[in-house]
Amino acid sequence: MAQPSFWLRCEKKEFERRAALTPTTSKQLIDAGFKIYVERDEQRIFDDAEYEAVGCELVENNSWPSAPTHIPIIGLKELPASDAPLPHTHIQFAHCYKQQAGWSSVLARFHRGGGTLYDLEFLADASGRRVAAFGFHAGFAGAAAGALAHAVQKKGGKLGKLEPYENEAAMVSDVKAKLGGSGKGVKALVIGALGRCGRGAVDLFRKIGLDEDDIVKWDMDETAKGGPFQEILDVDIFVNCIYLTSRIPFFVTKDQIDADGASRRLSVVVDVSCDTTNPNNPIPIYSINTTFSEPTVPVPVEKGNPPMSVISIDHLPTLLPREASEQFSADLLPSLLAFPDRQSARVWTDAEKLFREKLGEAVKAENL
Ligand SMILES: NC(=O)c1ccc[n+]([C@@H]2O[C@H](COP(=O)([O-])OP(=O)(O)OC[C@H]3O[C@@H](n4cnc5c(N)ncnc54)[C@H](O)[C@@H]3O)[C@@H](O)[C@H]2O)c1
Repeated sequence: MAQPSFWLRCEKKEFERRAALTPTTSKQLIDAGFKIYVERDEQRIFDDAEYEAVGCELVENNSWPSAPTHIPIIGLKELPASDAPLPHTHIQFAHCYKQQAGWSSVLARFHRGGGTLYDLEFLADASGRRVAAFGFHAGFAGAAAGALAHAVQKKGGKLGKLEPYENEAAMVSDVKAKLGGSGKGVKALVIGALGRCGRGAVDLFRKIGLDEDDIVKWDMDETAKGGPFQEILDVDIFVNCIYLTSRIPFFVTKDQIDADGASRRLSVVVDVSCDTTNPNNPIPIYSINTTFSEPTVPVPVEKGNPPMSVISIDHLPTLLPREASEQFSADLLPSLLAFPDRQSARVWTDAEKLFREKLGEAVKAENL
């Protein structure tokens, strides 16, 4: 039997510095008998040398199309658009199972090449929970961006471009410095606090020095009474981290903000959930996704009232590429170790079944 292997491809999406395999998880796979090929990639947060030092074999950037077809290719984001057939097995986020734009042409490439897609978004444990997700660091980074915006806004300014941080410690110390040394005195409310993103947001607020009593943590029980909630207007930063599944009463509205007038405390809303264009968005006070270049969108307020802004960036973990990759990859590792048994290991057989279903739909849609 051939030695089990993975081929870590480079990421071609702009600003994407994260990696599906890190030097840490590559070493664990190598120790378990795997061979790991790593494409050289200057964009990745981890240096090529870090992979080489743990025993990975470095290969040329973007050389996976000529890799032997029995080696599974692992990456994070979508492959660059192309019509080229895909003969390999790919493990990645492909964003083509929910009828997203271009979904059937992506799957048609697998049909033509005979390859298989295991979509990372749909690798789930026996209870249906995703085995690996980036939520924690989305919440962590979102809360940090919220604190930065609050600090600047207090001085009458507007938050400028955000750049990925080298590591978590650098982010925490930058946020503390911008808040004058500590976040003590700032008050925040996190809704969805028991989830992945919510736990990350709470963790950031603790690390920048908010008092525990000033980190208000809400989940299903607290919102059951139905919004809108005055409590949101009575904190400095509100971070929404819920997983929205249906229409629920609004959490906060424009009328409510206007009615609170000059006494409003709320200055920044971070919508980590980012259900921006979803008709059920419980925060109907903004309508665009913001970006690292323009992180905030102002909420128009009446003259004399304090300023207010919303952060609605939909790729927040990119701000913390090292830790986000380490956590995601560590969570994925048990499934990767089981990959040689993918014909019988449930996490992989389920993912392949879903792929076959979607492939069938694409074949029909594309008249193949
Ligand atoms: N902006 C980004 O970069 C980014 C990155 C990752 C995830 N997300 C998004 O963040 C959201 C949350 O993801 P997650 O992985 O943390 O989900 P999760 O399932 O781990 O957590 C969601 C939490 O929300 C709670 N919740 C759901 N409805 C609620 C309500 N009405 N009131 C109060 N609490 C409620 C749940 O009980 C749960 O604790 C998802 O929409 C996800 O797509 C955004």
